[in-house]
Amino acid sequence: MEQNGRLPENSSDLKGDAPDATDFANYFCTYAFLFHQKEMLEDHKRTGAYYTAIMQNQAQFKDKVVLDVGAGSGILAIFAAQAGARKVYAVEATDVAKHARKLVQHNRLGSIISVIQGTIETVELPEKVDLIVSEWMGYFLLRESMLDSVLVARDKFLKPGGALYPSHARLYVAPIRSNLTHSRQNEFRNAMEGWASFTDDMQRYYGVRMDCLNDSFRDEQKQYYQQTAAWADVSPNQLAGRPWCFKQYDLLTVTPQEIIDSFKEHFELQIIEAAPIEAFAGFFDVQFKGSPENPASFEVLLSTAPDPQCSTHWGQQVFHLYPPINAQPGDRISGDINISRKKENHRLMQVVFQHCIIPRQQQPQAATPKLQSTERVDFFSIE
Ligand SMILES: C[S@@+](CC[C@H](N)C(=O)[O-])C[C@H]1O[C@@H](n2cnc3c(N)ncnc32)[C@H](O)[C@@H]1O
Repeated sequence: MEQNGRLPENSSDLKGDAPDATDFANYFCTYAFLFHQKEMLEDHKRTGAYYTAIMQNQAQFKDKVVLDVGAGSGILAIFAAQAGARKVYAVEATDVAKHARKLVQHNRLGSIISVIQGTIETVELPEKVDLIVSEWMGYFLLRESMLDSVLVARDKFLKPGGALYPSHARLYVAPIRSNLTHSRQNEFRNAMEGWASFTDDMQRYYGVRMDCLNDSFRDEQKQYYQQTAAWADVSPNQLAGRPWCFKQYDLLTVTPQEIIDSFKEHFELQIIEAAPIEAFAGFFDVQFKGSPENPASFEVLLSTAPDPQCSTHWGQQVFHLYPPINAQPGDRISGDINISRKKENHRLMQVVFQHCIIPRQQQPQAATPKLQSTERVDFFSIE
């Protein structure tokens, strides 16, 4: 930080502020563990995609100044240095920065990489950067809301014409079959039976009647079992129709407000196989395309779509539907998806699907998607 109004001359003196206590407890605390960093590093589809995107674009990195936002173990900063960057600023809010510093020294990159501990929002750099690398994606892309911090870094530090790695992101939804829908329903029933015998015991042992809380317990359990998205590694065999891309971001131009605001987008899911549609699966991809002034010579795609060969630690977010939707090949599920941040914790998300099925025979009249009075609404949170 500035000392007497000036930036320190030695970049090893740079530092920012620690996250505030609530955000640390809600979000940052897990990232301080090497155990968690290891989990991300050994997701080779993820780490390999970044490695390829950086190393196959060495011409873009050669002699450039790079900023790694949320450096964690420092891996992306190390890749950038290996690709020939002149200087890399690796900014990490948590104590894992100390391990990153050790790794950088151990790999003899201390003259190129400066690890700076502090939140990117509070750090000052002695110069603007040509490139920003960051792995900021959470479940269903937006959980964790770390993109906010990347945009802060972009607006504060990226030179005009500079590029972000990744540069673009897309969100998808797909209709699927899922055995989990039934098992979660059974678990919900078991929880309610457990509650009934618990309230009996309370009356028998202590003479206290608790049945006035039956509805509240039911609501709580319903929210947990039926209205919370579940992590799953979905097999492509479960897909009952094609995925629909409902949102795209160009990270160079998207505004911070667009990311913060809730949004509603339309989707159309064409059913290919006769099946009860037991859930919607949500996933994302990111693209490494560089910027218009500094395009990547080798574009890379990191996809979290169902993939039998190689899944990622993000898996997919599965939104179970109670009851499932009966659909036939040629039918269409037409709907809107509304995504917002949870009021009590901006790192978590609220997802609402409002949808109806348009049978194949009715489709000529319903060519213009318009939700009807028969639409249903399903609420979920992503915890
Ligand atoms: C998903 S991890 C990625 C770590 C590493 N870049 C990698 O690819 O393995 C995100 C990291 O960003 C850090 N982080 C998140 N928000 C930050 C912020 N505003 N300022 C600095 N670091 C942040 C977290 O502590 C975490 O270590």
